[in-house]
Amino acid sequence: MKKDLLINGKKVEAKNYTPLFAPYSREEIAQIAAADESEVDLALEAAYQARETMAKMPSYKRALILEKVASLLQERADEAAKIIALEAAKPITVAKGEVDRTVQTYKFAAEEAKRIHGETIPLDAAPGGEGRVAYTVSEPIGVIGAITPFNFPMNLVAHKVGPAIAAGNTVVLKPANQTPLSAFFIAELFYEAGLPAGALNVVTGSGSVIGEKIVKDDRVSKISFTGSPAVGIGIRNKAGLKRVTLELGSNAAVIIDKGVDLDKIISRCVTGAFSFQGQVCISLQRIFVVEEVYEAFVEKFVEKTKQLKIGSPLEETTDVSALISPKDVDRTLSWIQEAEAHGAKIAIGGTAEENVLLPTVLLDVDPAQKVSCQEVFAPIVLINKVENVDKAIEAVNDSDYGLQAGIYTENIHTALDAAENLHVGGVLINDIPTFRVDHMPYGGVKESGVGREGIKYAIEEMTEKKLVIFNRN
Ligand code: SIN
Repeated sequence: MKKDLLINGKKVEAKNYTPLFAPYSREEIAQIAAADESEVDLALEAAYQARETMAKMPSYKRALILEKVASLLQERADEAAKIIALEAAKPITVAKGEVDRTVQTYKFAAEEAKRIHGETIPLDAAPGGEGRVAYTVSEPIGVIGAITPFNFPMNLVAHKVGPAIAAGNTVVLKPANQTPLSAFFIAELFYEAGLPAGALNVVTGSGSVIGEKIVKDDRVSKISFTGSPAVGIGIRNKAGLKRVTLELGSNAAVIIDKGVDLDKIISRCVTGAFSFQGQVCISLQRIFVVEEVYEAFVEKFVEKTKQLKIGSPLEETTDVSALISPKDVDRTLSWIQEAEAHGAKIAIGGTAEENVLLPTVLLDVDPAQKVSCQEVFAPIVLINKVENVDKAIEAVNDSDYGLQAGIYTENIHTALDAAENLHVGGVLINDIPTFRVDHMPYGGVKESGVGREGIKYAIEEMTEKKLVIFNRN
């Protein structure tokens, strides 16, 4: 299968193509266009020219397109899930969950398209403001450069394209190199749903060639990026006056207090650590357990981890499959070895079977080790003992990241203290940090990023407030 660029509503043959391999089987599954600068330029120009059409389109029509995309995706949900499973090695049941969420994300975008409004401003609150009527309107900002990661190849595209189209913007989308098929699939649905030519363009290929061009081009008004801090910081430095939203991952943690029913929470904690091989920005990477219940928690957690089924992402019974690349298997194995050399104990896992890193639980991990202080993005979780919840909060906050954190406690005062003192974008009381539904504000502090996603919040960052004042004096 050959996948061309999608520019101005048409498939455009590129000068170069590169093979795409399935991470689990390592079979070639497609030849993907690798855009050069001039081809990216065509996409940028198409998006720039389509701005007026989109900005003038009434909101009910934008909503109709988004609703139609949601219903087309729903009709082809099984096909969509198979694409995700194949190209990302996301276990099929989890991939189906992603497709369901993507449908919802586009439905939320359709709803929010109809709710974009300004406010009246009481100018007479200032002396000299009398006799004037003022209001704001929220206008689309123009071309959005969307750069998306491999880990949710449909839903994180939806989190950028959905609000952009809802707000009347146009988009140049650069999907992750590992998962372009999901992005093309969705973009084709948009055109089937009646999106005007040029409103959504998909360019695949080298991150540095395409990213660099999109980030620096003056026709682009905003960059929305999900990926690594290093790339995100580079984007911010080059983006000039463009708006930038960065969602950059974390080493998310949960705290387990005494008095919690461990049997009730174990399965959820294991899911948070190992779902999609831990390749989720809010994956549970660090668990801090108060000493009274530490041994019991570890025993139950390891027992549950043993039950996970390893295998092909296309099998309904598979819980854990391949990492996105062999390089990541090597990286994570070396991080585990380093942690072990610095005193960590491996309770289970710690090895790989071909491209599958076995679910790994580490105990007594030194916080300076990469498996603790960097984003591991693999099925590796550490469980450390802490004296009390205050010490656990200190340990959670001792991080360059701050996306979401969770705490399980039966004590309302402890819960409220944690909500106040955890330095993150979202605190989950009696849940893992891995919780997300698609209309909630989502984003982090510190190196976890800037700005918020979640359709309504993303729309705020993709619209400009214009002030209108009538002088009646
Ligand atoms: C992410 O990995 O950034 C997204 C997590 C999610 O949407 O569940």
